[in-house]
Amino acid sequence: MKRDALPFWTALAILGPAACGGKLGAGGDPPPVTVVSESVGKNPFKGVDFFINPDYVEKVEATARKFPDLADRIRKVKEYPTAVWLDTIARVAKLGYWLDEAKRQQDESGTPTLTVVVLCNLPNRDCAANASAGELAVEANGVARYQAEFVDPIAAQFAKHPDQPIVAIVEPDSLANMATNMAYPKCAASVHAYRQSIVYAIKRLALPNVSVYLDAAHAGWLGWDVNREKMAKVFRRVLDEAGGPDMIRGFATNISNYTHLSNRDGAALALTNPCPNELVYVKLLAETLGMYGMKGKGYVIDTSRNGRGGIRRSWGSWCNIKGAGLGERPRADPVRGVDAYFWIKPPGESDGVSDPTQPRYDEMCASRDAAPGAPQAGEWFESYFVDLVLNANPPL
Ligand code: BGC
Repeated sequence: MKRDALPFWTALAILGPAACGGKLGAGGDPPPVTVVSESVGKNPFKGVDFFINPDYVEKVEATARKFPDLADRIRKVKEYPTAVWLDTIARVAKLGYWLDEAKRQQDESGTPTLTVVVLCNLPNRDCAANASAGELAVEANGVARYQAEFVDPIAAQFAKHPDQPIVAIVEPDSLANMATNMAYPKCAASVHAYRQSIVYAIKRLALPNVSVYLDAAHAGWLGWDVNREKMAKVFRRVLDEAGGPDMIRGFATNISNYTHLSNRDGAALALTNPCPNELVYVKLLAETLGMYGMKGKGYVIDTSRNGRGGIRRSWGSWCNIKGAGLGERPRADPVRGVDAYFWIKPPGESDGVSDPTQPRYDEMCASRDAAPGAPQAGEWFESYFVDLVLNANPPL
C-alpha cells in the first residue's frame, strides 16, 4: 500500500486535544470530540427502532445456555441489532421473512423499524483475498446473474415493504479494491464488472423507503491521502454512471474490521498514515469526497468488534483478530456528521476459516493476530463470540 502522509501534527490538530490524550489499547479512551462533517437530508437511523434479527438472537441464546456463568452478559447482546447479510443468491429467498418480521416488530412497537441489509455477492467477490470468495464469476455470466438473480429480487422485496425504512449497504470490500489492489489479477479483471454491478444496484435500490450506503473500507486501508483520492475518483465515476451523488445517502466504513474509533493505534501501526483511528478517517474521507463533489454525505461506522485497541501487530490483519471486543452500541447520531454506529458484521460470525486444508483458506486467518479454530466465513465461531463479550468496551 502506498503511504503518502499528511504531517503527523495535522492529524493531531484534527483530532483535537481531548482525543490526543488517548492511550493505546482498551479502556480509558477519551470520548470523541471530533466534528466529522455535516450531512444533508434525513438520517435514516434517526427516530427509528432497529430490527432485531431472530436468527441472530437464536445463536446468541444457544451460546448463553452453554455458558451459564456468563449467560446474563451474553444475553445482553440480544438487545442490539445486527445487519442482515445477503451473501448468496439463495439467501435472498429469506429476505421477505426478515422484512415481515421487522414489520411485525414495527407494528408491535408503533415505531418505524429500520432493517439494515448488506449486499455482498459481487461477481469475483473478495478479489484480493480468499476467505469470502463468492459464488459468481465474471467469466461465467456473473454480472447478468448478479443483476437478475440477486439485485432484482432484493429490490422487489424492498418495494413490497414500502412502509418500512431500510438501509442497504452495498458490497463490502469491493470498490476499495479498485482503488488500491489492481496488482491482484482477479481485481484487475473485475473492474468493469464491479462498476457495472454496483451502478445497477444503486439504480435499482433507489426506492423511497431505502437509503443506500457504499462501502468505504477503513482507516488502515484508505487512510493515506493518495488512497483517499483514488477512492474518491472511483466513487465519483460509479455515482456519475448511477445518476449522481444524490443517488446514495452515504458511505459505510470499518465493515468487518477492527479499527478503533478514537484511540491512536494507527499511529503505532503505520507512522505515515494521517488517520490513527476511524473517526479521523471518516473526517478526512468526507473532506476528500467533498472535494470531488460528494458533499453532505452520511457515514455509518461498523462498531461490532472495535471496542479494544492494541490487539494487532499489523493493520493489514483482518481475520478474527484475537483480543477483540464488542464496540460502541448501535445508535444514531453518535457524533456530528456520523449517521450511526452500527453492528454491521454480526459479532460471533467468523471472518474466515483457519484450517489450511479447507476451501477458501486465507493465510490471514492463521496469522499470529488471528484466533485459532475458526470456521468458514459467516459461520458461528462460538469461542470468539464469548471473547467479544468478555472484552466488550464499553462493557456489557
Ligand atoms: C462472509 C459472509 C457473511 C458475512 C457476515 C463475510 O465475511 O463472507 O458469508 O455473511 O461475513 O458474517
